[in-house]
Amino acid sequence: MKKIVVFYYTQSGQALDIMHNICQPIVEAGDEVIYKEIVPEKKFPFYWNCSNFFEIFPETRLGIPPYEIKDMDLSDVQDVDLVIVAGQSWYLSPSLPIQSFFISEQVKEYLKGRIIIFVNGCRNMWYMTIRKIRKYVFEAKANLVGHIVLQDMTANLVSVITIVRWLFHGKKEASGIWPRAGVSEKDIKEASRFGKTIKSAMDANDYSKLQEQLMDEKAIIYKPGVIFVEKTGHRIFDIWAKFIRKKGGYEDKNRSFRKTLFFLYLFFVLYIVSPIGILVFYLTYPIRALFIGKQKREACYNLEWSEDKKIQ
Ligand SMILES: Cc1cc2nc3c(=O)[nH]c(=O)nc-3n(C[C@H](O)[C@H](O)[C@H](O)COP(=O)(O)O)c2cc1C
Repeated sequence: MKKIVVFYYTQSGQALDIMHNICQPIVEAGDEVIYKEIVPEKKFPFYWNCSNFFEIFPETRLGIPPYEIKDMDLSDVQDVDLVIVAGQSWYLSPSLPIQSFFISEQVKEYLKGRIIIFVNGCRNMWYMTIRKIRKYVFEAKANLVGHIVLQDMTANLVSVITIVRWLFHGKKEASGIWPRAGVSEKDIKEASRFGKTIKSAMDANDYSKLQEQLMDEKAIIYKPGVIFVEKTGHRIFDIWAKFIRKKGGYEDKNRSFRKTLFFLYLFFVLYIVSPIGILVFYLTYPIRALFIGKQKREACYNLEWSEDKKIQ
């Protein structure tokens, strides 16, 4: 019998729901799965309002979590065969609790030498998140062998609206012209296929081809136009995050005005710049097409990290 630990953070329950489905075939086969919730010292709000949503932006983007996570009892998971971490992207980065998890000394000590899979349940911008996760795993001296992304497959502009209805107003279900927000129920249910693949690798104790096998099952849907926008956005977010932090740290009232400027900027970017960005991407597609295969390999297959690599 094999044993897995799943560390997860979720606000709506989506990331946990995904994990229950992935682990279903593993549990049915008689293996043990232990779930450990990642709990920040202070809870992040859900649902959000404009003020608290934008307050966390600089710290998320720059990887400076304002809170640590609560210490975890890891005594029952010392002998696991595999570690799965499940979470989400916030501001083109791993969510703050996921970053706190990887930064925690207790966790780093625990992860050392272990085999890890990362599962992301996000809207559709996951590329910079996995780069940062790869770095965190490298710094913990662990071994990342799998990466799965479940994303909202509706059009980018539609999901920008439905996610706001969900995260700010609790309206997740379809209504009027708007589809349901988040990862579709079908995609969540069908995530169980990944569990079978993970189980085979675990039984054979050979993870060398796992990511290739997961990709054969569409573990990540690669949308080059969205990645192009995300990479550009991530660079610009860096400038904004530093600009806001010059006025003070987390929850410092002095940064309210700059936070509002960022809100206006983000609104403009999401609804005006990003559609143009995607259009520009496809207009220049013939030139870009030469590099897309290489970029896809780098984004979806190559999970290794090294000292000389840069986040961007
Ligand atoms: C503050 C915040 C920022 C977010 N930023 C992104 C993002 O950059 N990319 C993305 O794909 N999804 C983003 N999302 C959506 C989340 O990744 C996730 O899908 C959603 O919050 C539900 O996750 P959970 O209920 O499992 O916590 C963001 C959500 C929040 C709350």
